Amino acid sequence: MNPNRVIAITGASAGIGRATAVRVARDGASVVICARREAALRAVADEITAAGGQALPIVADVTREADMTAMVAQAVERFGRLDVMMCNAGFGVAGAIDDITPDQMRQLMDVNYLGTFFAARAAMPVFRTQGHGHVIMVSSIVGKRGVPFMGAYSATKFAQVGLAECLRAEVLGSDIHVTVVYPVSTETEFFDVMSKQTGMAVTRAYGPRQDVTIVADAIARALEHPVPEVYPYPRSKALAVLNAIAPGLCDRIVKRFGRKPVRSPV
Ligand SMILES: NC(=O)c1ccc[n+]([C@@H]2O[C@H](COP(=O)([O-])OP(=O)(O)OC[C@H]3O[C@@H](n4cnc5c(N)ncnc54)[C@H](OP(=O)(O)O)[C@@H]3O)[C@@H](O)[C@H]2O)c1
Repeated sequence: MNPNRVIAITGASAGIGRATAVRVARDGASVVICARREAALRAVADEITAAGGQALPIVADVTREADMTAMVAQAVERFGRLDVMMCNAGFGVAGAIDDITPDQMRQLMDVNYLGTFFAARAAMPVFRTQGHGHVIMVSSIVGKRGVPFMGAYSATKFAQVGLAECLRAEVLGSDIHVTVVYPVSTETEFFDVMSKQTGMAVTRAYGPRQDVTIVADAIARALEHPVPEVYPYPRSKALAVLNAIAPGLCDRIVKRFGRKPVRSPV
C-alpha cells in the first residue's frame, strides 16, 4: 500500500469500519475515523497509535452535513490531503413494510443514504482539486437483491448503489474511483443494534455469515486495485446475477431461505 495514503472512514467505532481502520493503518495508511460514541472511537484510535499507526478520531454524526464537511477539512489540515472516503456508517431495522414506521424509514434514510451522500459530497471537491481520490460505499448484498423483512433497510442500501453507479460514470476516465462493497451477514454489532433500536430482530438466514476481517481485507485489496464492485463473500454475486435474469425464482429462494422476524427480548 502507498504508505502515505490518507483514508477517512465513517462509522469506525465498531464493526466493519473499525476492522478496516485497524487493517489499513497496519498497512501504513493514516486514518481519519468518525462515529458518535467518543469512548469507543478513542479506543480504536489508541489501538492504532499503540501499534505505530496514525489515527485522527473525530466525533461526528453522518446525518449532519456540517460534520462531514468538518471531517474532511480536519483530515486535509492534519495530513495535507485525503485519498479515500469510505462511507460505511449504517444500521438496520427489521420488519415487514407495514410494520416499519415512517420515522424509522426516515432515520434509516438519514443515516444509511444521506450519511453516505454527505460524506462523499464533502470529499469530492478535494478529490477533484487533487486530481485523484477513491469513494468507497459499504452497501450490502441486500442492496442488490431484497430479502423478506428487511425492506426498509434494503431500500437504503439500493439507494447507495444508485448514487455510486451514477458517480462512477461521471468520474470515468479520471483518477477518481468509486467502489461499492456488498457484504453478506457479518459478525459485528449490527444485529444487536437492530434489535435494541426496534425490539425486532430476525432469525438467522441459511446463508453465509462472515468474519469482519474478511470484509476489511477485501476493502484493503480494493484500495490497491480499485474495482467497481467488491463481494467479500464472492459466491454471493451469484444472487445478483440470478436476480437479474430470473427475479421470480429469486423471490422464491429468498423467501424459502431468508430471515424471519422475531420480537427480541429487550
Ligand atoms: N453486519 C452485517 O451483517 C452487514 C452486512 C452488510 C452490510 N453491512 C453494512 O456495513 C456497514 C457497517 O455496519 P457494521 O456491521 O459494521 O455495524 P456496527 O458494528 O453496528 O457498526 C456501525 C458503525 O456505524 C456507526 N454509526 C451509526 N450511526 C452513525 C451516525 N449517525 N453517525 C456516525 N456513525 C454512525 C456506529 O458508531 P456509533 O454508534 O459510535 O455512532 C458504528 O461505528 C453498514 O453500512 C451496514 O449496513 C453490514
